[in-house]
Amino acid sequence: MSNVKLFEVGPRDGFQNLQDYVPAEVKLDLIDRMVQSGLKHLQCTSFVSPKAIPQMRDAKEVAAACVERYPDADLFALIPNLYGAKAARDSGIRSVDMVISLSKSHNQANINRTHEQSFAELQNVLDNCPEMKLTVDIATAFGCPFEGIPAVASLVDFIGKIRNYGIRNFTLGDTIGVANPVQVRETVKALLSAYPDCVFRPHFHDTRNNGIANTIAAIECGITEVETTLGGLGGCPFAPGASGNTATEDLIWLLDKMGYETGVSFEKVLEAAQYEHSILVGNYSGHQMNITKRSACCG
Ligand code: COA
Ligand code: ZN
Repeated sequence: MSNVKLFEVGPRDGFQNLQDYVPAEVKLDLIDRMVQSGLKHLQCTSFVSPKAIPQMRDAKEVAAACVERYPDADLFALIPNLYGAKAARDSGIRSVDMVISLSKSHNQANINRTHEQSFAELQNVLDNCPEMKLTVDIATAFGCPFEGIPAVASLVDFIGKIRNYGIRNFTLGDTIGVANPVQVRETVKALLSAYPDCVFRPHFHDTRNNGIANTIAAIECGITEVETTLGGLGGCPFAPGASGNTATEDLIWLLDKMGYETGVSFEKVLEAAQYEHSILVGNYSGHQMNITKRSACCG
């Protein structure tokens, strides 16, 4: 059966929405449990303004420690601008995801920039950090708290503009968890047929309990990379209504049952999610971690 690559974004999307500061050593302990479970693609932090997201003020420390400890992992970080790209590079990170929202209003709320300013900044990052692997995170790709649900054609067009800068890797963020499987199929098919040379990695928030359904819909349309968070912890502070993500352990359980290979241990990820839940108060959307009785046939 085919492989699905899991991109664990809990250390960024999971932590960024927590009120209380999580000390760097606690973050690193949780990241270690993720790596020990077999998760290889890890968004270890974000290099953003500490005024915007105080939780991420330890980005350099966390990233540098991960780079030192996990030379074989695919470590990446979220950035909003060149400042973030340079800080990521100084910490040893070689792969960054630059966030731009499809909706103009969310781009403004999230990173205080117009689309034109974001595109200029994208060029700035490409010019100044040519050695970095650059993915563009399309936030609000399936719906925006301020502008509603976008037409698929507007997403296709927006991605075409960014592709013209040479970008071939995109994430598709359902920032507030409003996507549905019909919309996901339509979107994924349109993007794969318009841009067969590009890789699209969906990122579904689980606000309305549709994260798994949407992720499976995307995979069944040919998507091979997906983003999830341990325990389903997550949310965007600049998107009213955003809550938890699709939980890594829930998706692994289902993919295992469906015959997909992820290379990640369900048992170990589950243990890590339960541990995280026991030490951090937050918005978790995972289900597997609440199941107390397990048996060989359904475990
Ligand atoms: N990392 C750390 N500091 C940064 C930074 C970055 N990537 N980019 C800018 N700054 C600093 C500037 O140096 C400046 O510092 P100063 O006040 O000490 O001079 C300050 O932030 C303001 O810079 P400016 O370019 O005017 O930023 P802004 O106030 O317009 O905010 C962003 C723009 C992009 C920096 C900010 O909105 C941001 O970090 N957003 C991230 C949001 C996020 O993470 N959302 C969730 C994930 S999608
Ligand atoms: Zn998110």
